[in-house]
Amino acid sequence: MTRRLHDRTAVVVGGGQTAGATVGNGRAVALAFAREGARVLVVDRDLAAAEETVGAIGEQGGTARAHRADITVEEDCAGILDAAVEAFGGVDILHNNVGVVPEGNTENLQLADWRRGFEINLTGMWLTCKYVLPHLRERGRGAVVNISSMAGLLAGGDTIAYSTSKAAVHSMTRSLALEYAPHGVRVNAIAPGMMDTPMGVDAVARARGADRQEVADRRAAMVPMGHQGTGDDVAGAALFLASDESAFITGTVLPVDGGFTLRAGAP
Ligand SMILES: NC(=O)c1ccc[n+]([C@@H]2O[C@H](COP(=O)([O-])OP(=O)(O)OC[C@H]3O[C@@H](n4cnc5c(N)ncnc54)[C@H](O)[C@@H]3O)[C@@H](O)[C@H]2O)c1
Repeated sequence: MTRRLHDRTAVVVGGGQTAGATVGNGRAVALAFAREGARVLVVDRDLAAAEETVGAIGEQGGTARAHRADITVEEDCAGILDAAVEAFGGVDILHNNVGVVPEGNTENLQLADWRRGFEINLTGMWLTCKYVLPHLRERGRGAVVNISSMAGLLAGGDTIAYSTSKAAVHSMTRSLALEYAPHGVRVNAIAPGMMDTPMGVDAVARARGADRQEVADRRAAMVPMGHQGTGDDVAGAALFLASDESAFITGTVLPVDGGFTLRAGAP
Protein backbone atom coordinates (compact mmCIF):
# COMPACT_ATOMS: atom_id res chain seq x y z
CA MET A 1 0.00 0.00 0.00
CA THR A 2 1.40 3.45 -0.90
CA ARG A 3 2.00 5.61 2.13
CA ARG A 4 0.03 8.85 2.27
CA LEU A 5 3.03 11.20 2.02
CA HIS A 6 5.18 8.99 -0.19
CA ASP A 7 7.95 11.02 -1.87
CA ARG A 8 6.95 14.31 -0.19
CA THR A 9 9.14 16.64 1.80
CA ALA A 10 7.68 18.22 4.92
CA VAL A 11 9.03 21.06 7.02
CA VAL A 12 7.79 20.92 10.61
CA VAL A 13 8.49 24.22 12.33
CA GLY A 14 8.55 23.75 16.08
CA GLY A 15 9.16 20.02 15.66
CA GLY A 16 11.10 19.70 18.90
CA GLN A 17 9.23 19.83 22.16
CA THR A 18 9.01 21.10 25.71
CA ALA A 19 10.30 18.62 28.30
CA GLY A 20 7.58 16.42 29.73
CA ALA A 21 6.01 13.03 30.16
CA THR A 22 4.11 12.70 26.85
CA VAL A 23 4.65 13.46 23.15
CA GLY A 24 4.08 17.06 22.03
CA ASN A 25 2.00 18.11 19.04
CA GLY A 26 4.95 19.11 16.85
CA ARG A 27 7.01 15.98 17.52
CA ALA A 28 3.95 13.74 17.00
CA VAL A 29 3.29 15.39 13.63
CA ALA A 30 6.93 15.03 12.50
CA LEU A 31 6.85 11.33 13.47
CA ALA A 32 3.52 10.74 11.71
CA PHE A 33 4.61 12.52 8.51
CA ALA A 34 7.78 10.39 8.43
CA ARG A 35 5.82 7.17 9.07
CA GLU A 36 3.68 8.03 6.06
CA GLY A 37 6.76 8.33 3.85
CA ALA A 38 7.72 12.01 4.01
CA ARG A 39 11.28 13.25 4.36
CA VAL A 40 11.09 15.69 7.27
CA LEU A 41 13.08 18.81 8.03
CA VAL A 42 12.59 19.33 11.76
CA VAL A 43 13.00 23.02 12.53
CA ASP A 44 13.26 24.44 16.03
CA ARG A 45 15.04 27.23 17.86
CA ASP A 46 16.17 24.48 20.25
CA LEU A 47 18.45 22.36 18.05
CA ALA A 48 18.82 19.61 20.65
CA ALA A 49 15.03 19.20 20.79
CA ALA A 50 14.88 19.03 16.97
CA GLU A 51 17.68 16.46 16.96
CA GLU A 52 15.78 14.34 19.48
CA THR A 53 12.83 14.24 17.09
CA VAL A 54 15.13 13.33 14.21
CA GLY A 55 16.55 10.51 16.34
CA ALA A 56 13.05 9.18 17.06
CA ILE A 57 12.21 9.31 13.34
CA GLY A 58 15.41 7.41 12.57
CA GLU A 59 14.45 4.73 15.10
CA GLN A 60 11.19 4.12 13.25
CA GLY A 61 13.06 3.85 9.94
CA GLY A 62 12.24 7.32 8.57
CA THR A 63 14.30 10.10 7.00
CA ALA A 64 14.77 13.45 8.73
CA ARG A 65 17.22 16.28 9.27
CA ALA A 66 17.34 18.89 12.05
CA HIS A 67 17.66 22.63 11.40
CA ARG A 68 17.93 25.48 13.90
CA ALA A 69 15.80 28.56 13.29
CA ASP A 70 14.06 31.11 15.51
CA ILE A 71 10.89 32.23 13.76
CA THR A 72 11.09 35.66 15.39
CA VAL A 73 14.21 36.29 13.27
CA GLU A 74 13.42 37.08 9.63
CA GLU A 75 16.73 35.75 8.24
CA ASP A 76 16.13 32.46 10.06
CA CYS A 77 12.71 32.14 8.39
CA ALA A 78 14.24 32.91 5.00
CA GLY A 79 16.87 30.23 5.63
CA ILE A 80 14.33 27.43 6.23
CA LEU A 81 13.64 27.00 2.50
CA ASP A 82 17.37 26.90 1.67
CA ALA A 83 17.90 24.24 4.34
CA ALA A 84 15.05 22.12 2.95
CA VAL A 85 16.29 22.48 -0.63
CA GLU A 86 19.79 21.54 0.43
CA ALA A 87 18.65 18.54 2.48
CA PHE A 88 15.86 17.17 0.30
CA GLY A 89 15.60 19.24 -2.92
CA GLY A 90 12.43 21.20 -2.09
CA VAL A 91 9.31 21.47 0.05
CA ASP A 92 5.80 20.04 -0.43
CA ILE A 93 4.36 20.56 3.06
CA LEU A 94 4.87 23.38 5.56
CA HIS A 95 3.62 22.59 9.06
CA ASN A 96 3.66 25.56 11.47
CA ASN A 97 3.52 24.28 15.06
CA VAL A 98 5.21 26.99 17.13
CA GLY A 99 3.08 28.71 19.75
CA VAL A 100 3.43 30.16 23.23
CA VAL A 101 0.91 31.11 25.93
CA PRO A 102 1.62 34.46 27.60
CA GLU A 103 -0.43 34.38 30.80
CA GLY A 104 -2.40 37.45 31.76
CA ASN A 105 -5.66 39.35 31.30
CA THR A 106 -6.01 42.93 30.06
CA GLU A 107 -4.86 44.54 33.29
CA ASN A 108 -2.06 42.27 34.42
CA LEU A 109 -0.48 41.29 31.09
CA GLN A 110 2.69 43.24 30.32
CA LEU A 111 3.11 44.88 26.91
CA ALA A 112 6.30 42.87 26.31
CA ASP A 113 4.36 39.62 26.80
CA TRP A 114 1.54 40.75 24.49
CA ARG A 115 4.16 41.55 21.83
CA ARG A 116 5.99 38.24 22.37
CA GLY A 117 2.71 36.33 21.94
CA PHE A 118 1.95 38.02 18.63
CA GLU A 119 5.53 37.88 17.41
CA ILE A 120 5.76 34.12 17.91
CA ASN A 121 2.18 32.95 17.33
CA LEU A 122 1.31 35.17 14.38
CA THR A 123 4.22 37.12 12.86
CA GLY A 124 6.61 34.15 12.96
CA MET A 125 4.02 31.95 11.25
CA TRP A 126 3.43 34.61 8.61
CA LEU A 127 7.20 34.85 8.02
CA THR A 128 7.65 31.11 7.45
CA CYS A 129 4.75 31.29 4.98
CA LYS A 130 6.20 34.37 3.31
CA TYR A 131 9.43 32.54 2.51
CA VAL A 132 8.12 29.06 1.70
CA LEU A 133 4.91 29.86 -0.21
CA PRO A 134 6.63 31.32 -3.30
CA HIS A 135 8.40 27.95 -3.69
CA LEU A 136 5.08 26.07 -3.45
CA ARG A 137 3.47 28.52 -5.90
CA GLU A 138 6.24 27.94 -8.43
CA ARG A 139 5.76 24.18 -8.10
CA GLY A 140 1.99 24.58 -8.49
CA ARG A 141 1.21 22.35 -5.51
CA GLY A 142 1.65 22.11 -1.76
CA ALA A 143 -0.06 22.20 1.59
CA VAL A 144 0.37 24.41 4.64
CA VAL A 145 -0.99 23.38 8.05
CA ASN A 146 -1.06 26.02 10.78
CA ILE A 147 -1.47 24.98 14.40
CA SER A 148 -3.81 27.34 16.15
CA SER A 149 -5.86 26.62 19.28
CA MET A 150 -9.48 26.35 20.34
CA ALA A 151 -8.60 29.47 22.36
CA GLY A 152 -8.76 31.33 19.03
CA LEU A 153 -12.41 30.27 18.68
CA LEU A 154 -13.35 31.26 22.24
CA ALA A 155 -12.88 34.15 24.66
CA GLY A 156 -9.44 34.18 26.25
CA GLY A 157 -10.03 34.69 29.95
CA ASP A 158 -6.58 34.93 31.50
CA THR A 159 -4.71 34.42 28.23
CA ILE A 160 -5.91 37.33 26.11
CA ALA A 161 -2.75 37.60 23.97
CA TYR A 162 -2.92 33.87 23.22
CA SER A 163 -6.58 33.73 22.19
CA THR A 164 -6.37 36.97 20.19
CA SER A 165 -3.21 35.95 18.31
CA LYS A 166 -4.67 32.49 17.59
CA ALA A 167 -7.90 34.08 16.27
CA ALA A 168 -5.66 36.10 13.96
CA VAL A 169 -4.05 32.84 12.80
CA HIS A 170 -7.51 31.72 11.63
CA SER A 171 -8.00 34.92 9.67
CA MET A 172 -4.49 34.73 8.19
CA THR A 173 -5.07 31.09 7.22
CA ARG A 174 -8.21 32.05 5.29
CA SER A 175 -6.42 34.96 3.55
CA LEU A 176 -3.47 32.76 2.56
CA ALA A 177 -5.85 30.03 1.36
CA LEU A 178 -7.64 32.46 -0.92
CA GLU A 179 -4.40 33.99 -2.21
CA TYR A 180 -2.83 30.63 -3.08
CA ALA A 181 -5.89 28.60 -4.16
CA PRO A 182 -5.37 29.47 -7.86
CA HIS A 183 -1.82 28.13 -7.58
CA GLY A 184 -2.73 24.66 -6.29
CA VAL A 185 -1.53 25.40 -2.76
CA ARG A 186 -3.87 24.69 0.15
CA VAL A 187 -3.67 26.36 3.57
CA ASN A 188 -5.59 25.04 6.57
CA ALA A 189 -5.46 25.31 10.35
CA ILE A 190 -6.01 22.95 13.25
CA ALA A 191 -7.43 24.19 16.55
CA PRO A 192 -6.40 21.71 19.26
CA GLY A 193 -8.28 21.66 22.55
CA MET A 194 -7.15 20.17 25.87
CA MET A 195 -4.18 18.03 24.85
CA ASP A 196 -2.14 15.86 27.21
CA THR A 197 1.17 17.30 26.04
CA PRO A 198 4.20 18.71 27.88
CA MET A 199 3.13 22.23 26.86
CA GLY A 200 -0.48 21.72 27.91
CA VAL A 201 0.09 19.88 31.19
CA ASP A 202 3.72 19.69 32.42
CA ALA A 203 4.53 23.35 31.71
CA VAL A 204 1.31 24.50 33.39
CA ALA A 205 1.96 22.29 36.42
CA ARG A 206 5.53 23.64 36.69
CA ALA A 207 4.43 27.29 36.34
CA ARG A 208 1.68 26.93 38.97
CA GLY A 209 3.62 24.65 41.32
CA ALA A 210 0.81 22.12 40.93
CA ASP A 211 0.75 18.35 40.66
CA ARG A 212 0.85 17.06 37.04
CA GLN A 213 -1.94 14.53 37.59
CA GLU A 214 -4.17 17.16 39.19
CA VAL A 215 -3.71 19.50 36.21
CA ALA A 216 -4.37 16.62 33.79
CA ASP A 217 -7.54 15.52 35.64
CA ARG A 218 -8.90 19.08 35.81
CA ARG A 219 -8.38 19.53 32.07
CA ALA A 220 -9.92 16.16 31.20
CA ALA A 221 -13.03 16.94 33.26
CA MET A 222 -13.74 19.99 31.07
CA VAL A 223 -13.89 17.95 27.84
CA PRO A 224 -17.29 16.59 26.73
CA MET A 225 -15.61 13.33 25.65
CA GLY A 226 -14.24 13.00 29.20
CA HIS A 227 -10.54 12.88 28.42
CA GLN A 228 -7.77 15.02 26.95
CA GLY A 229 -6.49 14.51 23.41
CA THR A 230 -2.89 13.65 22.53
CA GLY A 231 -0.24 14.84 20.12
CA ASP A 232 -1.22 11.87 17.97
CA ASP A 233 -4.75 13.23 17.65
CA VAL A 234 -3.31 16.45 16.24
CA ALA A 235 -1.00 14.42 14.00
CA GLY A 236 -3.96 12.51 12.54
CA ALA A 237 -5.67 15.76 11.56
CA ALA A 238 -2.41 17.21 10.20
CA LEU A 239 -1.83 14.11 8.07
CA PHE A 240 -5.29 14.50 6.58
CA LEU A 241 -4.79 18.20 5.81
CA ALA A 242 -1.27 17.66 4.43
CA SER A 243 -2.18 14.72 2.20
CA ASP A 244 -4.21 14.40 -0.99
CA GLU A 245 -7.14 13.08 1.04
CA SER A 246 -8.03 16.73 1.64
CA ALA A 247 -7.24 17.84 -1.94
CA PHE A 248 -10.37 20.05 -2.21
CA ILE A 249 -10.21 21.54 1.30
CA THR A 250 -8.62 24.91 1.89
CA GLY A 251 -9.07 27.77 4.36
CA THR A 252 -10.67 25.63 7.03
CA VAL A 253 -10.06 25.63 10.79
CA LEU A 254 -10.47 22.08 12.11
CA PRO A 255 -11.09 21.76 15.87
CA VAL A 256 -9.46 18.67 17.45
CA ASP A 257 -10.99 19.09 20.87
CA GLY A 258 -13.26 16.21 21.91
CA GLY A 259 -16.24 18.55 21.64
CA PHE A 260 -14.90 21.35 23.86
CA THR A 261 -15.89 24.20 21.52
CA LEU A 262 -19.47 22.87 21.33
CA ARG A 263 -19.90 24.39 24.78
CA ALA A 264 -20.03 28.15 25.30
CA GLY A 265 -17.36 29.62 27.56
CA ALA A 266 -13.65 30.22 27.86
CA PRO A 267 -11.11 27.39 28.30
N1 LIG B 1 -0.70 21.40 24.18
C1 LIG B 1 -1.92 21.89 24.16
O1 LIG B 1 -2.74 21.59 25.03
C2 LIG B 1 -2.30 22.84 23.04
C3 LIG B 1 -3.63 23.21 22.92
C4 LIG B 1 -3.98 24.04 21.87
C5 LIG B 1 -3.03 24.47 20.99
N2 LIG B 1 -1.74 24.10 21.11
C6 LIG B 1 -0.76 24.58 20.14
O2 LIG B 1 0.14 23.54 19.78
C7 LIG B 1 1.40 24.11 19.45
C8 LIG B 1 2.54 23.55 20.26
O3 LIG B 1 2.31 22.27 20.71
P1 LIG B 1 3.52 21.33 21.21
O4 LIG B 1 2.85 20.32 22.07
O5 LIG B 1 4.31 20.85 20.06
O6 LIG B 1 4.40 22.36 22.10
P2 LIG B 1 5.92 22.28 22.54
O7 LIG B 1 6.12 23.45 23.42
O8 LIG B 1 6.23 20.92 23.09
O9 LIG B 1 6.77 22.44 21.20
C9 LIG B 1 6.92 23.68 20.58
C10 LIG B 1 8.30 23.78 20.02
O10 LIG B 1 8.41 25.08 19.43
C11 LIG B 1 9.71 25.57 19.69
N3 LIG B 1 9.74 27.03 19.61
C12 LIG B 1 9.25 27.92 20.50
N4 LIG B 1 9.47 29.17 20.09
C13 LIG B 1 10.12 29.08 18.91
C14 LIG B 1 10.64 30.02 17.98
N5 LIG B 1 10.54 31.33 18.22
N6 LIG B 1 11.24 29.58 16.86
C15 LIG B 1 11.36 28.26 16.62
N7 LIG B 1 10.90 27.30 17.46
C16 LIG B 1 10.30 27.71 18.59
C17 LIG B 1 10.07 25.06 21.07
O11 LIG B 1 11.47 25.01 21.25
C18 LIG B 1 9.41 23.67 21.08
O12 LIG B 1 10.31 22.65 20.72
C19 LIG B 1 1.28 25.61 19.70
O13 LIG B 1 0.98 26.28 18.50
C20 LIG B 1 0.12 25.68 20.67
O14 LIG B 1 -0.49 26.94 20.69
C21 LIG B 1 -1.36 23.30 22.14
